[in-house]
Amino acid sequence: MRVKTYIKGFDEKLEGGFPQNSSILIFGSPGSGKTTFCNQFIYNGLKKGEAALYITFYAPPRVIKDRMKKFGWNIEGKIIIFIDVYSWKAGGIRVDKYTIREPSDLNEFNIKVSEAIKELKNKNLKRCTIDSLSTLFLYVPTDLALKFTSVLLGKFKLNDITQTIVIEGGVHDQATLNALDAMSDGCVELAYSEMLQKRIMRIRRMVNTKHSLEWFGFQISNKGIVME
Ligand SMILES: Nc1ncnc2c1ncn2[C@@H]1O[C@H](COP(=O)(O)OP(=O)(O)OP(=O)(O)O)[C@@H](O)[C@H]1O
Ligand SMILES: [Mg+2]
Repeated sequence: MRVKTYIKGFDEKLEGGFPQNSSILIFGSPGSGKTTFCNQFIYNGLKKGEAALYITFYAPPRVIKDRMKKFGWNIEGKIIIFIDVYSWKAGGIRVDKYTIREPSDLNEFNIKVSEAIKELKNKNLKRCTIDSLSTLFLYVPTDLALKFTSVLLGKFKLNDITQTIVIEGGVHDQATLNALDAMSDGCVELAYSEMLQKRIMRIRRMVNTKHSLEWFGFQISNKGIVME
């Protein structure tokens, strides 16, 4: 079974989509299009009547919703839970059920993820994104962050959830990247080519899938990512 991103021109390069239940790293430098890719992946699932889980480290849910709207992706009324690991910074925020109060408290984090999965379990929960997992490494030591990641990904897999996990390029050392590679099922790398003066992406690794290793050009249009 494949899980379609419904990103124009992308699924065809992957035998129809991501393998079901897979953990896919979305790797690239700032501005390369990682968030757009994930938002599009999530929205396209919601549009088909799925539920989704969105773990955000980079902005509060309201801002993400607005950002999606600019691409014409309206998620009002859709079944999505945001686990907000951003808003705690503001201090004194109204803490709702899925706001993490202390990102280094992995126990709290773990419980909230489980609760969210439970809440969506009978609502066709199929997709999850973490944007970006790299931020977690700012709050907890690397070995702990890796251990926690592995627990998290296992949980998603058991619950039949396909995930896109944002990893910032140029942030982690090689040993950490290797560990993340080892616990995930695939990696899509996004970049900007100075030479070609355009956005490019490649499928660097994808379990159980015959795919090309070449770089493909893509654009971010007002409807999101479109492969060339
Ligand atoms: N409506 C739009 N139309 C076309 N291009 C856009 C639009 N909105 C954003 N972009 C482009 O997308 C880029 C940002 O992409 P995105 O936020 O997905 O990257 P990212 O890899 O998540 O970056 P970061 O690491 O900073 O989070 C912007 O720098 C801009 O060039
Ligand atoms: Mg981003």
